[in-house]
Amino acid sequence: MNRLTFPLLKSLLLATLAVCGTASAAEAPRAAAKADPAKGGTLYDSGDAARGLPACMSCHGAAGNSTIVANPKLAGQIEAYTHKQLVDFTTPNRQQPIMTTYAKMLTEDEKRNIAAYLATQKQKAGAAKNKDTVELGRKIYRGGIAEKGVAACASCHGATAGGIPAQYPRLSGQHQDYTYAQLEAFKSGTRKNSIQMTTLSQRMSTEEMKAVSDYIAGLK
Ligand code: HEC
Ligand code: HEC
Repeated sequence: MNRLTFPLLKSLLLATLAVCGTASAAEAPRAAAKADPAKGGTLYDSGDAARGLPACMSCHGAAGNSTIVANPKLAGQIEAYTHKQLVDFTTPNRQQPIMTTYAKMLTEDEKRNIAAYLATQKQKAGAAKNKDTVELGRKIYRGGIAEKGVAACASCHGATAGGIPAQYPRLSGQHQDYTYAQLEAFKSGTRKNSIQMTTLSQRMSTEEMKAVSDYIAGLK
């Protein structure tokens, strides 16, 4: 290194450090207040007409037990996962016209309060509908698809799909149509907030995704 470039590099390095230093100070987590599930429940049930925010309940059902197959059940979901989705909907990683609009209207505290509320609600069980594919679904859920390099769903989502805090969401009892739609979304790249799920779904056929989604609906 010659005498001219060294001081230049040194001052560049110092400048970079200074910039990084300021950035990380600004992003340091603020002292988070405890989430308030009661407030979350009120907002979930009633929305906020003043802001044009509809009641979440109108689509996701009373206490998070949606009865419409395209709208996921949210009851009993892992708190950190629900919060992450409400954040992700505001980023390019999970764009969905309805939820992106509403997630952008929620403050950070509201996202945390609603996630805390939903985690305390009891999910109403679902049921598998297709007897012909339940065995295939069970095999994939428990053992994966070895020849395609698809890991067992159970290894991350738990033996009965109850989820594992904080990373792995609950899947059990979910509407099969919603679960299948998400696997397709990961596969096609419309949902890109999990590299693990993108990789897995790209290795699965439509039949395999439908079978495992139906099986999961019946898990409790
Ligand atoms: C008009 C209907 C509608 C309303 C109102 C609505 N949602 Fe949704 N929500 C949906 C649909 C549809 C999806 C599935 C999105 C997708 O396909 O990715 C969804 C997905 C979600 C998810 C992701 C669940 C998961 O398992 O990943 C969360 C969390 C959520 N909504 C929370 C809320 C909250 C909180 C509110 C109220 C502020 C709300 N929703 C209002 C229709 C709605
Ligand atoms: C290596 C760990 C891992 C394995 C194995 C795995 N998953 Fe996942 N899965 C995740 C993670 C992490 C998420 C949460 C992604 C996020 O943050 O949005 C997820 C999310 C999902 C979702 C979205 C849930 C929702 O409410 O929207 C579905 C559906 C799903 N996984 C199904 C499956 C199925 C079916 C299998 C087996 C074929 C499987 N997963 C195997 C890690 C895994």
